[in-house]
Amino acid sequence: MIFIQLLFWALTFSGSALAWQSFLVKESVSVIPRGWTTSSRAPPDHLLRLQIGLRQADPTSLYDALANISDPRHVQYGQHLEKEQVEALVRPHPDASESIEAWLSHHGIPAGSVSRNGAGDWLSIEVPVHKAEHMLDAEYRIFEHEDGSSIVRCSSWSLPADLYEHVEFIQPTTMFARLKPQRSFVHSVSPGIVLANPIDCSHYVTPDCIKELYGIGSYRPNSSAPNHLGIAGYLESYANVNDTTFFYQEFAPKAFADDFTFSVELINNGFNDQSEMAASLEGNLDVQYGGSLSFPIPNTYYSTGGSPPFNPSSGTPQNTNEPYAEFLSYILNKSNSELPTVLSTSYGDEEQTVPYSYAVSVCNLFAQLGARGVSVLFSSGDGGVGDGKGPGQDSLTCISIDGNYTPMFLPFFPATCPYVTAVGATSGVPETAASFSGGGFSNYFSRPYWQEGAVNAYTPQIPSSYSGFYNASGRAYPDVSAQGDNFIIRQSGNLTTGFGTSCSAPTLSSIIALLNDFLMARGKAPLGFLNPWLYIIGSTGFNDIVTGTNPGCGKNGFSAAVGWDPITGVGTPNVTRLMSLLSLSL
Ligand SMILES: *[C@@H]1O[C@H](CO)[C@@H](O)[C@H](O)[C@H]1NC(C)=O
Ligand SMILES: *[C@@H]1O[C@H](CO)[C@@H](O)[C@H](O)[C@H]1NC(C)=O
Ligand SMILES: *[C@@H]1O[C@H](CO)[C@@H](O)[C@H](O)[C@H]1NC(C)=O
Ligand SMILES: *[C@@H]1O[C@H](CO)[C@@H](O)[C@H](O)[C@H]1NC(C)=O
Ligand SMILES: *[C@@H]1O[C@H](CO)[C@@H](O)[C@H](O)[C@H]1NC(C)=O
Ligand SMILES: *[C@@H]1O[C@H](CO)[C@@H](O)[C@H](O)[C@H]1NC(C)=O
Ligand SMILES: *[C@@H]1O[C@H](CO)[C@@H](O)[C@H](O)[C@H]1NC(C)=O
Repeated sequence: MIFIQLLFWALTFSGSALAWQSFLVKESVSVIPRGWTTSSRAPPDHLLRLQIGLRQADPTSLYDALANISDPRHVQYGQHLEKEQVEALVRPHPDASESIEAWLSHHGIPAGSVSRNGAGDWLSIEVPVHKAEHMLDAEYRIFEHEDGSSIVRCSSWSLPADLYEHVEFIQPTTMFARLKPQRSFVHSVSPGIVLANPIDCSHYVTPDCIKELYGIGSYRPNSSAPNHLGIAGYLESYANVNDTTFFYQEFAPKAFADDFTFSVELINNGFNDQSEMAASLEGNLDVQYGGSLSFPIPNTYYSTGGSPPFNPSSGTPQNTNEPYAEFLSYILNKSNSELPTVLSTSYGDEEQTVPYSYAVSVCNLFAQLGARGVSVLFSSGDGGVGDGKGPGQDSLTCISIDGNYTPMFLPFFPATCPYVTAVGATSGVPETAASFSGGGFSNYFSRPYWQEGAVNAYTPQIPSSYSGFYNASGRAYPDVSAQGDNFIIRQSGNLTTGFGTSCSAPTLSSIIALLNDFLMARGKAPLGFLNPWLYIIGSTGFNDIVTGTNPGCGKNGFSAAVGWDPITGVGTPNVTRLMSLLSLSL
């Protein structure tokens, strides 16, 4: 009793030094995600760039504002916010800022070395592992993946009681997700075969056949409207200018004749290696389809560094950054006029490997972009309902990592974030759902009002044997789809084919950029956060895809159906119809 009272006295009255020693576990993982093993402690002097997310003073105000400006029925529709207005909505509580400063100063971290975003709710500091371990009462280890890469992470971290409520997340700690490009490379093809039938997407997909299939026709964007298409690249995926120029020469002669190319912005020590062999299929695919379909709307390729492969035995592992955080704080720091109107990203990972707090905070950043008038599109993943393995195939991966080993489908993040538009894939002509097209239901985010009707019309068709494998109340995805199979891509001097929802995301993003051009040339705001408009009005401008399944986890997967479905969303675009829908609101 006396001891307890003394302890109480010590915690309450003896100043912060002692208070900072009483830790509460903030986050822990019960099971290391499949594929990872650990053998050794991280080198104590290895540097970590810790991202710290503070709790916002009013966690719902951004969402309240965005609900109004994204709902086409609301008087505030399209009245996007400026940078400073969004920052005011997501500002941390003054107590949170004060506590974190006291804590950092207690650990000898100079105020000048802390970098913050405009809103002040994300901080980042660089500290050696031994200091991070002390601050977070954690043990950092080197984790190696079966694919040969390694990361420095911990399986649990804690915070002093005084800080506990103020901090949303700190990473890298328990995050095992990595950004994986959602595409696969198939084989080389000869140009003769491809060019034999350029406007038919049934064998090979080229920009011309996409224009035909989706009714882009001869729509000529007005390049003087302040509109541009942004493409996010990670993991040293370089978009090659030379490959792209030759691609335009063959498949987008107008862009070629105009010397059109993409511009590059480097973030977080990203590189732009233009040597022929450094060209990545992902980067090339994105700019080749982005540019050919949206020309002459300017295209920007954002190359974010931060995940080079590293050799743990060298003692200097570097693969510890969180590239989303780096990229998003960079882009949110721009003024509205410098932002793209559409941002296409084809990377992601299993939702359950992203810590819940981090997923919610990253999703909040996408909502901030949406509120500022940017449509944020992500590929929906390439594993169907999970690992892409159908009945009879060896599927061991579809289990929860919460320690219960519950069999489940594997939803894909950020596609599951309600504030992004998730893009699934179709294949062939007439279009059918691509079997790899990721789709399902989030376990983190609940179902938003704007998709309630569309999704509820579908759920009775789900086989009862899937019950327990998916979360019937979760945010359902994808929202839309586009061709994603047999794309012709030029890479390192050769034509190859690729498939994946990585092909679908830049295709649909280019079409949204065209719709924005149509609106902006008429003095209207760009579409911004798309989903409410998409489900409330836009869906009638999409072709309903009603055939195909997306197998995975040893099951047949979901079936495409009339109306929305968890493989193709509301379907693929018909630009003529979409433009007439938009005309109604002019
Ligand atoms: C949203 O619109 C409602 C009226 O529909 C209004 O009462 C509310 O203040 C608006 N919220 C914001 C944040 O503008
Ligand atoms: C934001 O931009 C300003 C200049 O406009 C720059 O001084 C500042 O360092 C940037 N902050 C971040 C976090 O990038
Ligand atoms: C788009 O929809 C219109 C109206 O339904 C239709 O006439 C047209 O053929 C469609 N375009 C394409 C490319 O499917
Ligand atoms: C192109 O956009 C600019 C700026 O928005 C506008 O002034 C101009 O009228 C547009 N031109 C056409 C042909 O739509
Ligand atoms: C299902 O989703 C809801 C959010 O929509 C979440 O609160 C719940 O924990 C999820 N259930 C499971 C089993 O993941
Ligand atoms: C391109 O084709 C040439 C000749 O067939 C081959 O030597 C080279 O390895 C190919 N490059 C790639 C990246 O496939
Ligand atoms: C550019 O691409 C062309 C065609 O693939 C190739 O012949 C040429 O060598 C490349 N040039 C460079 C500098 O890589």
